Amino acid sequence: MLSTSVLAQTPTPPERLKAQADIKALVNDPVALRQAIDAGKKVTFFCVNCHGENGISKMTEVPNLAGQNAAYVLEQIRKFGAGERKNQFMEGLIKVLKDDERLQAAQYYASMPVPPSPTTPALAAKGKALFTKLCVQCHGVNARGSELFPRLAGQQIEYLRLSITRYRDGTGIRNEPRMTIATSMLKDADIIALANYLRQLP
Ligand code: HEC
Ligand code: HEC
Repeated sequence: MLSTSVLAQTPTPPERLKAQADIKALVNDPVALRQAIDAGKKVTFFCVNCHGENGISKMTEVPNLAGQNAAYVLEQIRKFGAGERKNQFMEGLIKVLKDDERLQAAQYYASMPVPPSPTTPALAAKGKALFTKLCVQCHGVNARGSELFPRLAGQQIEYLRLSITRYRDGTGIRNEPRMTIATSMLKDADIIALANYLRQLP
């Protein structure tokens, strides 16, 4: 089995490099960035129904988008559009967004703060130990991710549990070999502990 630190350095596909370059150009231009964020709020008026006001979901199985890394959001939108990630509703909906609207939506959500929620301390402590051993190489010590990896800190608890379980079980709903490897040894109770740890992180 490959070590996860090697897996963390897998080369980035060209379309993701382009998305990252688009984001970098925007972030380096404060006026354009402000305009993109304002436009993103308008573009996402419909998303509020599920992902909540300002990207803070009220449903524990629907992800927060607030605070999520823009490059990751763009990549997931691409995956839904290409049918590489399965969710009937998202696969259909996301096709209506044009490229510049996708970038605006991603930038808008990235600019929003995400509030953590308290969870069961004993479970969070167990989750922290697992996270430190198995997940930090990619998701970072504070679980805030990077342009390559999603933020997990403050994410909805049931969504975390579901997502981690789906990678582990190879359901085909989400396909990411590195996540399948990283989660292969986890028991259901470990996944619940990890979700408790991540949900309460700022
Ligand atoms: C009818 C409810 C609904 C609406 C409306 C909706 N979404 Fe979603 N979205 C979901 C669900 C449910 C998921 C999680 C799917 C899963 O379990 O993997 C999701 C996942 C996502 C993800 C992946 C997040 C992650 O952490 O991986 C992104 C990005 C996203 N949606 C963007 C949008 C945008 C942008 C809009 C508006 C144009 C939108 N969604 C509207 C239900 C919705
Ligand atoms: C080798 C790098 C790597 C390691 C180690 C890793 N991950 Fe991931 N993780 C990723 C990548 C890449 C994605 C995005 C996958 C995709 O596009 O579906 C991801 C996605 C996720 C998601 C989905 C986030 C969202 O918003 O939908 C969760 C939850 C997650 N990882 C949890 C974990 C946990 C818990 C561990 C440790 C047990 C872990 N990861 C270890 C690379 C890694």
